[in-house]
Amino acid sequence: MSQIVFEHVTKIFDPDELVLEDISFRVEKGEFLFLIGKSGVGKSSILKLLSRQEDATEGKIYIDQQDISQLKRKEIPYFRRKFGIMQADMRCLRDRTAYDNLLLVMRSCGYSRSRSRQRIMEVLGRVGMAHKAGRYPQELSVGEEARVLLARALLTDPQILLADEPTANLDPDMSWDMMNLLNDINRQGITVLVSSHSVELVNIMHKRVLTLVEGMLVSDEKNAGYSAKALDIFEERRVRQLREGRILKNR
Ligand SMILES: Nc1ncnc2c1ncn2[C@@H]1O[C@H](COP(=O)(O)OP(=O)(O)O)[C@@H](O)[C@H]1O
Ligand SMILES: [Mg+2]
Repeated sequence: MSQIVFEHVTKIFDPDELVLEDISFRVEKGEFLFLIGKSGVGKSSILKLLSRQEDATEGKIYIDQQDISQLKRKEIPYFRRKFGIMQADMRCLRDRTAYDNLLLVMRSCGYSRSRSRQRIMEVLGRVGMAHKAGRYPQELSVGEEARVLLARALLTDPQILLADEPTANLDPDMSWDMMNLLNDINRQGITVLVSSHSVELVNIMHKRVLTLVEGMLVSDEKNAGYSAKALDIFEERRVRQLREGRILKNR
């Protein structure tokens, strides 16, 4: 049974914004995949649905065979520990060191100081930042801060890493670095989902690529490059017409 299953998932935001329409896919444990598409197509929404930061309007999502809509509110914090989450709008807190940023997470999960120390140094080591543990965020380059954020996402020993535009603020060299790190983490057995619109990076990586256009999944390809479909204005019009046709029919 697959680790992640999306079955006919639709997401409508209030009041009436159809953001994702009838999305179905499966991800096996240990896979690496990209979610691509223009800004606003629903990449972040998919990642948020996965970790129950948002709820699906229709359809089912299963993680490790569990229907996540059935999770009780008090079960959600524990459920979220399955995921390491990197979001484009997340930053380190400016008033404390890289180490203390991670300590905050460990302490809020109830770990002791000594257990925390061991784990923090381990994850900082994995992203090549152990030697800068004592630095404040403003003493780090953007790329280094991104590494610390990746380390933070790995703290709870997640089975699935959700990286939402992890290279959004990075120059090409740092982006390449980040992709290599994500690849290493994937090789250690963690399932990795990355949203991106960086054509070059997605092309070079040759991973599975899910392409979204206007909230619909238009292709799912193994060992793929960046799909021209994601950029194709005609594809966008086709999907829009399809949707409008259906809306009219349903009235
Ligand atoms: N909380 C929200 N409330 C209303 N609309 C939202 C919310 N979050 C996202 N959207 C809308 O959903 C669409 C898809 O957004 P998003 O998933 O962030 O796309 P992407 O990550 O591909 O840029 C956008 O039109 C956005 O405005
Ligand atoms: Mg996004």
